[in-house]
Amino acid sequence: MKTIIEPFRIKVVEPIRMTTREEREEVLRAARFNVFAIRARDVLIDLLTDSGTGAMSSLQWAAMMQGDESYAGAESFYRFEKRMKELTGFPYILPTHQGRAAERILFELVGGKGKVVPNNNHFDTTRANIEHSGAEAIDLVIDEGKQPTVRHPFKGNMDINKLEQLIHRVGADRIPLCMVTVTDNSDGGQPVSLENLRAVRGVCDRHGIPFFLDACRFAENAYLIKLREPGQAQRSVREIVRDMFDLADGATISAKKDGLVNIGGVLLFKDEDLLRRAGELLILTEGFVTYGGLAGRDLEAMAQGFEEVVHEDYLAYRIRSTAYLGEKLLEIGYQIIEPPGGHAIYVDAGHLCPHIPPAQFPGQALVCALYRHAGIRAVEIGSVMFGTDTYTPSTELVRLAIPRRAYTQSHIDYVAEACAELFEQRQSFAGLRMTNKPSALRHFTAEFEEIISP
Ligand code: F0G
Repeated sequence: MKTIIEPFRIKVVEPIRMTTREEREEVLRAARFNVFAIRARDVLIDLLTDSGTGAMSSLQWAAMMQGDESYAGAESFYRFEKRMKELTGFPYILPTHQGRAAERILFELVGGKGKVVPNNNHFDTTRANIEHSGAEAIDLVIDEGKQPTVRHPFKGNMDINKLEQLIHRVGADRIPLCMVTVTDNSDGGQPVSLENLRAVRGVCDRHGIPFFLDACRFAENAYLIKLREPGQAQRSVREIVRDMFDLADGATISAKKDGLVNIGGVLLFKDEDLLRRAGELLILTEGFVTYGGLAGRDLEAMAQGFEEVVHEDYLAYRIRSTAYLGEKLLEIGYQIIEPPGGHAIYVDAGHLCPHIPPAQFPGQALVCALYRHAGIRAVEIGSVMFGTDTYTPSTELVRLAIPRRAYTQSHIDYVAEACAELFEQRQSFAGLRMTNKPSALRHFTAEFEEIISP
């Protein structure tokens, strides 16, 4: 049999609401053409992010009833810690309220002026936390990773030569750690191979540089290794996950992705001194080291989520359902980042709308069209997110991120049908003018008006 089914049945449902085109037109205008300003109740299919938007299992909900809400030493912490140790092999585990809290603590410890932190591609909060510390964040993904239509199995790989050159140029003593993001969210959700992680580890070892993972989507990365890396097909995802973490000295994780929870994060170390110093910083803003800004019940949900995410029937469905949307869009004629990655499909809106120049935000035009036509919410990753008055990014992308276990195949078919209709209308999409330009992270709060040609 060919169909890979959703490996669950549905016990609780949450209604979603159809709106009329007139209603959506009004909502879009009231939001000033920024879908972050739209109320979720006015969205039919929400593909804004895969972060914290997934459905928990019955076992996760059941585990939440065991939440031990003690301020210090809660049983829930010890269950969570045990699960994380088993999964990752790391001896020291700190919970945080989400991924960026772990990043903030890590880079407050090791960042600072004069320091340089390489990554395949820094996610925007990681970059922001590094830069906030005074350090410089540098992206060293392989060249294939920057070419949307090149089909390379591991487009998230770090370029080892570029890493060596950076170390040679700035000196190892200025590099407090080297990071690799799995999967590479800023570049199509593309995976990193075990071979590449080993090579990065080798370079770090030769220069005495600690190696960290931004491991938000570690399980999706491991499954793509199983599917794509020679010699890995017969191994279990658990073994591959363990190999990935064994190569690193530490990791930050947003549990809102492969932790299968709605809130939570983790900071993991091998070094006891780092743990102690991180714990001190964590107490300043997150809470005590055995709860890290979370309720005991959240720790229980994470402990169970980090178990379920390495089940291979879940991962087969997860990776297949993302690829399914990608294949449909390719058939229609869209250019997307190929091959489909783990958690999202990234559409090349610059290619779709050559009549809209980057200064008029072709990605945002597609985002608005998706909402107006079909009530679908996506996110622009192009000139709105990264552009400035003096800088234009090289690609104008729109990300359709797939929440975990939340939508069924018919929801995705609906998205593909809407995209097929929009493809025929693409020449009618209007560019936008940014009427309110926030100075940082502008995609969240920017406002626009449509440029209607006479
Ligand atoms: N690292 C990566 C690779 C991420 O994708 C994210 C979040 C974070 C760190 C930060 O984690 O949100 O829990 O603080 N990505 C979300 C997204 C927001 O939509 O891609 P957080």
